[in-house]
Amino acid sequence: MLKNKTILATGAGSGIGRTAAQTFARAGANVVVVDLNEAAARETVAAIRAAGGQAEAVVCNVAVEDEVAAMVAFAVSHYGRLDGAFNNAGIEMHNKPVHELTAAEWNSVIAVDLTGVFYCIKHEILAMKANGAGSIVNTASASGVRAQANSSEYVAAKHGVVGLTKAAAADAGPLGIRVNAICPGLIMTPMARDRLMHDPVFSQALDGLRQRHIIGRFGETSEVAEAAMWLLSDRASFSTGTAMLVDGGYAI
Ligand SMILES: NC(=O)c1ccc[n+]([C@@H]2O[C@H](COP(=O)([O-])OP(=O)(O)OC[C@H]3O[C@@H](n4cnc5c(N)ncnc54)[C@H](O)[C@@H]3O)[C@@H](O)[C@H]2O)c1
Repeated sequence: MLKNKTILATGAGSGIGRTAAQTFARAGANVVVVDLNEAAARETVAAIRAAGGQAEAVVCNVAVEDEVAAMVAFAVSHYGRLDGAFNNAGIEMHNKPVHELTAAEWNSVIAVDLTGVFYCIKHEILAMKANGAGSIVNTASASGVRAQANSSEYVAAKHGVVGLTKAAAADAGPLGIRVNAICPGLIMTPMARDRLMHDPVFSQALDGLRQRHIIGRFGETSEVAEAAMWLLSDRASFSTGTAMLVDGGYAI
C-alpha cells in the first residue's frame, strides 16, 4: 500500500509508533524512524531490517524546531523525497486536576504533544510542496474530542492537534497535501501499560474508562497502525482534515 514511498514516523521507538513503522515498512515504504531515545529508534530499525524492510534511525526532539527541520532534511537527502509523515511522538498527562497543575507541567505536555506536531507539519509541508503531493497523519487521541478528569493539559493539547489538523489541511490542500488525525482510545503501549496504569489516580479511573470503550476492551497498537497506514496511502485520496476515531467507541 506504501510501495516506494518515504514515510517519516515520530515516536517510533515504542508503542504505536514502533508498530506503525513496522507496518509501513511491510507495506513497502522506506521508513525514517524518529525518536528522542536513540537506542529505541535503533531497535525499531533493526527489527524492520531483520524482516527485510528499509529504515533509518534519526534522533530528534520534536519540541525543538531546528531538530525537526534537520529530521525532515535527512529524509529528503537520504531517500530523495518525503511522501508521508506520521506525527505520533507524545507524552502523557500528569494525572492531576487543572487547579493543581503547575505551569511547568502544563508547558511540558503542550510543548511535545501540540507544538511538536506544529513544527513537524510545518517542515513536512515545506518539503512535500515541491512534489505537489503528500499525506500527513497526526496522532491526536480520543481525548482530542472528549474530555476526562485529571488530564487538562493532555486534553487541551490533543483537542489542539485536532484543530491544527483541520487548519493545516485547509492550508495544504491547494498544495496537493492531505492532513488527517487519528484519535486512539486506550491502547496497550508502554505509555498505558507500564506508566499510566501504575499511577494511583489513573488506575482508579480504569474501570470507568474500560466501560466507555463500547467494544469492551482496550486497543492494540496494530489497530491504530492500520488506520494510519490507510490515511497515509493513496487509497485515502479524498480524505483530509478528518479526526478518525480508532477508539472502540470511547468518544461517541
Ligand atoms: N497509549 C494510549 O493509550 C494512547 C491513546 C491515545 C493517544 N495516544 C498517543 O499516541 C502517541 C504514542 O503513544 P504511545 O502510547 O505509543 O507512547 P509510548 O510512550 O509507548 O511511545 C512514545 C514514544 O515517543 C517518544 N517521544 C516522547 N517524547 C518525544 C519527543 N519530544 N521527541 C521525539 N520522540 C519523543 C518516546 O521516546 C517513545 O518512544 C502519543 O502521541 C500519545 O499521546 C496514546
